[in-house]
Amino acid sequence: MNPLAQNQLLPAVSPIAEDVISGLSASPKRLPPRLFYDAAGSDLFEQITELPEYYLTRTERTILSQHASEMLKDAGPGLTLIELGAGTASKTKVIIEALLRQQMSTTFYPIDVSASALEIARDTLKSEFPALKVRPLVGDYSAGLSQLSGTPGRKLVLYIGSSIGNFEPDEAGVLLKTIRQSLTPGDALLLGADMVKDEAVLLAAYNDEQGVTARFNLNILARINRELGGDFDLTAFRHWAIWNAAKSRIEMHLESLRAQTVNISEIDMRVRFRRGETIHTENSYKFTPAMVREILSAGGFELEQTWMDEQNWFGVHLARIKR
Ligand code: AVJ
Repeated sequence: MNPLAQNQLLPAVSPIAEDVISGLSASPKRLPPRLFYDAAGSDLFEQITELPEYYLTRTERTILSQHASEMLKDAGPGLTLIELGAGTASKTKVIIEALLRQQMSTTFYPIDVSASALEIARDTLKSEFPALKVRPLVGDYSAGLSQLSGTPGRKLVLYIGSSIGNFEPDEAGVLLKTIRQSLTPGDALLLGADMVKDEAVLLAAYNDEQGVTARFNLNILARINRELGGDFDLTAFRHWAIWNAAKSRIEMHLESLRAQTVNISEIDMRVRFRRGETIHTENSYKFTPAMVREILSAGGFELEQTWMDEQNWFGVHLARIKR
C-alpha cells in the first residue's frame, strides 16, 4: 500500500473537534451554541422550556394555539408544511390539527439533524393524525429544503422557537435567503421571534433560580470532557449571562474562576485561561418589529402579519416571498 495514501487517512475524531479547536484558539474564546445539543444538553434544554422564568416556549405555544387557523388561512389554500429544526415536532401539533380542519390531507416535511427526534415525530404524528403524510428529512436546512424545491403546491415553511435568534442579523438574512431560494411565488414563511422587553424579564429567563441554564451552558465543557478527553473542572467555571442592549441580544458566557490550563487529549490541545477570562457560548437576539422586517427583507421576504401575546413578548410572523 502506498504509505502516502495511508497517511492521508485521518483519525476518526468527534464531529465537535473542529469547532473546539477553532473556538478555543480564538481570542476572545468562543464555542458555537450547536455544541449544546448532545443527549444531555437536549434534555437540559427540554427542562429549560418548562422553567417558570423561561417564557419563550409557552408564550409561543399559546400564540400558535390561539391563532393557528387564522395563520393558515392567511398563508393560503392547499398548503404543504415544512418545518426547519422540527425536533420531535411537539409544538407543530396545534398547527397540523388546525390545517387538517381546513384541508382533507396534507404532507408534513420535518427537517432536522437528529434522526432519532424525527423518528419520534413521525411515529407520534402518524398515530395521532392518520390523514397526515409525514416525510422526515435528516440533515441541515438548506439540504432538506433544496430537496423540496420541486414539490408541487403552496409551501408554508415553519421556523419557530426563535432559533433565528442564534444568528447575527446579517447571517439571519443569509439564512432566510437560502430558504427563499427553495420557494416559489405564493409560498410563505412562519417565523417565531422573541421580542425585546424589560431587561429584568430577559435576564431572569437566562439566569433561572434552579440553575438549569447554568448546567446547560456548562454541559458544553462536560461534553468536551466526554467526547474529546478534556479535563475541564466544571467547578472552576461559572455560567454568566448578560443583556447587551447595543446589540439587542442576551449573551451567554462561561467564566474561568481562576488561572488554569485545560488539557484536551484527543485533539492534543492545551488551553490556558486567565482568571476572569470567558468563553462566549451563545447569542440570543431579541427583536423589535423593525428588526424582524429588516432580516425578512434581506432574505427576500415581505412581512404580512404578526401575532403576539398580550404582553408583546413573543411574535409569530407570517411573511411571503417577494416577487
Ligand atoms: C433555542 C436558541 C431559542 O436562545 O432562548 C435557552 C436557547 N439558551 N436558554 C434561546 C437557550 C439558553 C434558546 N433557543
